Amino acid sequence: MAVGNRDLRGVALRQLPVERWPTREEAAASRWFSPVKIGGLNLSERTWVPAMVPWRATEDGFVTPEVLAWYERFAIGQPGGLVLEATGIRDVPSGPLLRIGHDRYVEGLAKLVETVRRASNGRTKVFIQIIDFLNVRRRPAKDKFFARHLVVDDTLRAELAAALGDSRWSMAPEGDVRDALGGADEALIERVLAPRALEAYRFGYRERVTDTHLPHVAQLPLQLPGLFAAAAERAKTAGFDGVELHFAHAYTMASFLSATNTRTDGYGTTREGRARLPLEVIAEVRGRVGKDYALGCRFLGDEVIDGGSHVEDAAWFGARFAEAGLDFLSVSKGGKFDDAKQPKVGEAVYPYTGPSGHECMPTIHVDDALPESERRGPFGRNVQLSAEIRRAVRAAGFETPVIAAGGICSFWQAEEVLAKGEADLVASARQALADPDWFKKSRLGFGHEIRRCLFTNYCEALDQRHKQVTCQLWDRELTSDGNPSGLLAKDGKRRLVAPDWEPPPG
Ligand SMILES: Cc1cc2nc3c(=O)[nH]c(=O)nc-3n(C[C@H](O)[C@H](O)[C@H](O)COP(=O)(O)O)c2cc1C
Ligand code: SF4
Repeated sequence: MAVGNRDLRGVALRQLPVERWPTREEAAASRWFSPVKIGGLNLSERTWVPAMVPWRATEDGFVTPEVLAWYERFAIGQPGGLVLEATGIRDVPSGPLLRIGHDRYVEGLAKLVETVRRASNGRTKVFIQIIDFLNVRRRPAKDKFFARHLVVDDTLRAELAAALGDSRWSMAPEGDVRDALGGADEALIERVLAPRALEAYRFGYRERVTDTHLPHVAQLPLQLPGLFAAAAERAKTAGFDGVELHFAHAYTMASFLSATNTRTDGYGTTREGRARLPLEVIAEVRGRVGKDYALGCRFLGDEVIDGGSHVEDAAWFGARFAEAGLDFLSVSKGGKFDDAKQPKVGEAVYPYTGPSGHECMPTIHVDDALPESERRGPFGRNVQLSAEIRRAVRAAGFETPVIAAGGICSFWQAEEVLAKGEADLVASARQALADPDWFKKSRLGFGHEIRRCLFTNYCEALDQRHKQVTCQLWDRELTSDGNPSGLLAKDGKRRLVAPDWEPPPG
């Protein structure tokens, strides 16, 4: 499925060329629109919308009318599976992200489940992605960092003394060290600060799972299985058809799985050690929700960072997760903090800004640096990862469905992935955001009416700034349907849900 992202004249193509869309009959006979079982659940088709954070919850993590409208709109398009955004399992403030860390969240989430069922006429199964993340602080202003945040100790004093060639600094009062560094140039700061302090200054302080000197980090293996299990139980009570454990991208569980996890307490270093906590989480959750409840995870086929895990690790993890009884495996790629760009002062580091992030949500420019003949654009770039994981799962004797995502935006592309046995379900995030009806349009023979994603990541840029996520293409149709939902973004300029669509009469 190698597809260049330029046409024959070398003009950049923003869209995967599609010669024709399927007829209704072709769609009816297709693999993508055929049913599939996930554990005990019957999905009407193999289409899937993976988790996407829309920044619409209240500041304290509750479902809002805007959250309901967002998911209702996806449900109208009737995908086989729809996964609710990453939802926090702890009862701690985390901005306008959904939370499920307390029973008080169940009522709103139950309403959301009902909304999806009603809007999809019961055709869409609804899952919730549950997540844990560690502390990440915003990048501090220089004066504040040196006045308040920097830890001044004897090692730092000794470094300063050596750098300035003046031994008196090794005994200097704390305030003098702070003042000296607060007024220092970047070269001196870089020479004197320890790597983690330099990172905290330049990127904002960020905890790691390897910070076992911090008691709450050391105790993650004791806490997380119970927190995930309680959250999953609430999801079941709220009526979700299943739960997706978030083991991907930059967050706690992915960091345990990472080849960069050097914990020496039995929860790191070797593949077995790195998989231990995820497997303990799976066991605890399974024990709480019962064997018939659909439970899966999202994890990385490749971390795309120096020293990170690659597909061989992922294939091994996939087989272990299947063996542990997960009902589906959703594969993603990259999205790490390790190679993220430096944020502006006052902003938090965003894990989708470096090379690993570009692989997670690839744009049309993702491989512009490659020779023309090797470019394939964002289209289906992760499929070889799901294929390899699926092979390993099958070789281990399990039929666990594997879900591929990444630049899927045409019916034939999805069909080819399934025909080749590279995945069992094919997901699309941004194409579904651009046009939530694209599954239905493909299925009913109206593919030519699909609003096609441009893969330029206007939506992802909004996510980065923690602004309500919308698609640049919706506003172009602001007046065509009069925006019957009437929902506009806080800036009053963008519509919050995609325009309506009805199949033409007859
Ligand atoms: C705005 C936005 C928010 C996202 N939020 C999540 C998330 O909460 N959890 C997750 O696993 N992936 C998240 N993703 C990644 C998508 O699920 C998907 O893996 C990625 O966009 C690549 O698929 P696509 O090419 O079909 O868009 C997000 C993507 C976008 C564009
Ligand atoms: S803003 Fe819309 S068109 Fe652009 S990448 Fe996101 S979904 Fe696609």
